[in-house]
Amino acid sequence: MLKERVGHATVTIRCVVNGVERTVTTVPNRTALELIREDLALTGAKEGCGTGDCGACTIIVDGRPVNGCLLLAPMLDGKTVLTVEGVARGGKLHPVQQTMVEMGGLQCGFCTPGFVVTAVNFLEHNLNPTEEEVRVAIAGNLCRCTGYSKIVDAILEAAKRMREGEGR
Ligand code: FES
Ligand code: FES
Repeated sequence: MLKERVGHATVTIRCVVNGVERTVTTVPNRTALELIREDLALTGAKEGCGTGDCGACTIIVDGRPVNGCLLLAPMLDGKTVLTVEGVARGGKLHPVQQTMVEMGGLQCGFCTPGFVVTAVNFLEHNLNPTEEEVRVAIAGNLCRCTGYSKIVDAILEAAKRMREGEGR
């Protein structure tokens, strides 16, 4: 829902989202998550807690995972953003997505977009992680269905497949 206007102010935000330049004029007191979900209609990132605790809203901003619920929309101006919608390429799932599906890394799926973008970003920096490193990387993402073992196994398997040349 569009938040109440602050006076008559609007703000124009220009950013690159999933490789596409976007220009959005909106009210300034929206979160980045609201901008992405409601103004850009990219509904993969979810609002769980809205207070920075669950990671369901995770997006990658200038190469770093952030909680979209904690960022004000104008802070995206001039930034590069990756959401879960931009992870698959050419109709092919990213290895992290593929292994999450194959290895049962999700149940209700509410947390999954956050885990996926976090893991994809993590593997871009460490393609040969230990289990502990994976667990630390996803520490900001909470899941209330699956437990974490299958998610960790899926990320480790994705790393292995990527090392062997699959995906990126
Ligand atoms: S909705 Fe942002 S951390 Fe939970
Ligand atoms: S799969 Fe349901 S919260 Fe994680």
